[in-house]
Amino acid sequence: MDIKKAIDTLRKEKKAVILAHTYQPPEIQAIADFVGDSYGLSVKASQVEEAEMIVFCGVRFMAETAAILNPNKRVLMPDANAGCPMADMIDGKQLAEFKAAHPGAPVVCYVNSTAEVKAGSTICCTSSNAVKVVKSLGDVPEILFVPDQYLGRFVEKQLGRKLVLWNGCCPIHRALDPESIQTAKQAYPSAKVMVHPETRPETQAAADYVLATGQMIDLVKMQPQGDYIVGTERGILHALQQAAPASKYFPIEPPLICPDMKKTTLEKLLNSLETETTQVTVAPEVAAGALKAIQAMLAL
Ligand code: 13P
Ligand code: SF4
Repeated sequence: MDIKKAIDTLRKEKKAVILAHTYQPPEIQAIADFVGDSYGLSVKASQVEEAEMIVFCGVRFMAETAAILNPNKRVLMPDANAGCPMADMIDGKQLAEFKAAHPGAPVVCYVNSTAEVKAGSTICCTSSNAVKVVKSLGDVPEILFVPDQYLGRFVEKQLGRKLVLWNGCCPIHRALDPESIQTAKQAYPSAKVMVHPETRPETQAAADYVLATGQMIDLVKMQPQGDYIVGTERGILHALQQAAPASKYFPIEPPLICPDMKKTTLEKLLNSLETETTQVTVAPEVAAGALKAIQAMLAL
């Protein structure tokens, strides 16, 4: 049987819902029940009452979030080795030391973090709501922000206040330099440049828009006849084309590719449904703490 048909048959039989991040390969996005950014996927994962299992096509921290929000469902990853290097740039022990050096300060943790780090944090954020989340903490003297220093600096700029930043970053987005943006602008002078807030401040300064992936999709839906230079992971091009097919999209050269996001294949997705592996679990005591931080974000 054709692999796509086999996936379709099995997902119905097993009451499975397939969630995919916008950085996943196009054929995975095309077969998913829901495609979104990390915020959209967290919300969706909290609303899938009818499903008996979730197959998460993304990276580990995203599947962990889904598992924390759905303790009674099986959450599967087609490739359990798909991680996020930024999420691994701070662990629970390092967070505890960071907190001890700043007693009483609330901790905002980007969802690109381990469940253990979420459990030690006050509230989570995603790239689409980081400004709102930090603002919700009010005028406290110190706020710790982990692990992404560049998203943290973006928030600082928007709010005109200092944060105490951990020095993590996404190696894929950090590689995007302002010179590549200038080169793309010269090649496509009428195109607007959008970049992700995980890029460096000087790269953000060279762009027209600094947006989370879901916000990029909202923008092209609102302005569907534009030309866009896209400064984030290449997988988003598929999602943008689906959202506004009349626009033209130009990736930055060389394109940004997250190798972990590309570990999912149709074969692994089918195998995951057939064998109900690899299940992602979070220890109950860690999950309880992480759930509080995730729910604090979702409640805003
Ligand atoms: P979004 O929050 O825009 O989905 O981004 C997640 C991510 O991993 C970016 O590198
Ligand atoms: Fe992590 Fe960067 Fe890949 Fe996003 S693009 S999953 S932040 S390594």
